[in-house]
Amino acid sequence: MNLKTRLGILVSGRGSNMEAIVQACQQNQIEAEVAVVISNQPGALAIGKAKKKGLLTVLVPNGPDLETKIAALLKEHRVELICLAGFMKILSPDFIRQFPNRILNIHPSLLPAFPGLNAQKQALDSGVQWTGVTVHLVDEGCDTGPILLQSVVPVEPQDTLETLTQRILLEEHRLYPQAIRQRITSNLKIVGPRVEWTPKKGER
Ligand code: GRF
Repeated sequence: MNLKTRLGILVSGRGSNMEAIVQACQQNQIEAEVAVVISNQPGALAIGKAKKKGLLTVLVPNGPDLETKIAALLKEHRVELICLAGFMKILSPDFIRQFPNRILNIHPSLLPAFPGLNAQKQALDSGVQWTGVTVHLVDEGCDTGPILLQSVVPVEPQDTLETLTQRILLEEHRLYPQAIRQRITSNLKIVGPRVEWTPKKGER
């Protein structure tokens, strides 16, 4: 029997978080396998990277039926957990309701600080000394869903946008697989704004 959780990864760009997730699966750090990688951008670097790893990739160009096609693909490939990894499209409530508590996103700040685009620049411009990474469940808002895991990253006095972005990205690559692992091995209950975790039977 195959006990691995089937992941669908949605990408639009570089795909470094996708690579981190794939590597964690291949190294058995998480009991999961990537069933499909879906991009809405024809030129996304992520697609080439996924193909090189032998993964099934599908391009669904932006258009009125984007979400219908993506939902159909996810169901066709029996995806159990959807990981947004630099997917540059806000998903509609209709789409999200089809996969309750099964859509994860990674954001390069300590939410609720600095939601939306250019989170690293927002942090730098604001003068904070600490920022970080958040993995959260996707709800109907923009970067507002229940927080699964967070990790803190320092902002150094000499940081440029590039150095800060890079330091955050390294932390993203560590945190996303960890959050997926926790999501897979735990039952979760949403209590108000919070996520409560209890290990599944046989997990610790
Ligand atoms: C990451 O910074 C992620 O937090 C944000 O978009 C970026 C995607 O990078 N949502 P990559 O495509 O995973 O390299």
